[in-house]
Amino acid sequence: MKRTEKIANDFHNTGIAVWDNFISGADASILRAELEKRKAFMQKAGVGRGSDLQIKKDVRGDFIEWIQDSDDSDFRKIYLNPLWEIVEEFNKRFFLGIRKSEHHLAWYPPGTRYQKHVDVFKSNDARVVSTVLYLNSSWQPSDGGELCIYPPTISQPLLGRAGPEKAAPLKVEPVGGRLVLFESTLEHEVLESNASRYSVTGWFKRKPPL
Ligand code: OGA
Ligand code: NI
Repeated sequence: MKRTEKIANDFHNTGIAVWDNFISGADASILRAELEKRKAFMQKAGVGRGSDLQIKKDVRGDFIEWIQDSDDSDFRKIYLNPLWEIVEEFNKRFFLGIRKSEHHLAWYPPGTRYQKHVDVFKSNDARVVSTVLYLNSSWQPSDGGELCIYPPTISQPLLGRAGPEKAAPLKVEPVGGRLVLFESTLEHEVLESNASRYSVTGWFKRKPPL
C-alpha cells in the first residue's frame, strides 16, 4: 500500500493520521533556519478572528507568521507542494471539496502552551483538515509540548460516524520531520513546552456555502 493510501485510511478511520519523516532531517533544518530568521517578525497569536480576536497568553502562548500565497519559498517547495498531493488524494476519496489552504509558522517559547480548542470558528466552518509539521531537532520527552488530540465521541461524531462515549487522547511528540493531519472539528491541545517548539501549522478549507 502506498504511504498516502495508509494516511488516507488512518484519517478516514480515526480522523487523525501521523506521517513520520514526511520531510528529511536536512529539509527540516532548512525550514527551521528560515523560521529562526523570521522570529523577530513573528506576532503573538490571538484567539478568535476579526473583531473577536483577543490575545490571551494563558490560553495560547505561541508566536506566528502567516505564509503568503505568493511565497515562492523553500516552505512551498519542500512542504506545501507535497502536502497538497496528499490533500488531493483525500479530496478524491472522501469528496471533501478542499480548494484552499492557509499556513503559519509557529514558535512556542519555553513555558507556553495552547489550551484545548477546535480549529473551526463558530462563524465559519470552512476548515476541514488541520495539519502540523514539526521542525524540532532532537526533541526529548522532558521537553513536553505534546499535541493531544481527542478522538471523535458520541457527542462529537466524525464525518457522521460516532466513536465511543469517551476515548483517551492521542499524544504526539513534536519530533522534527513529523506531519500530523486531523479533522479540524476534533478537540486538541498543546501541552506546556519546556523548550522552544517550532512548527508549520495549516488548514485545508472547503468553499464556504453561498
Ligand atoms: C493550532 C494547533 C497544534 C500544534 O495552532 O491550532 O492546535 O501541535 N497547533 O502545534
Ligand atoms: Ni489547533
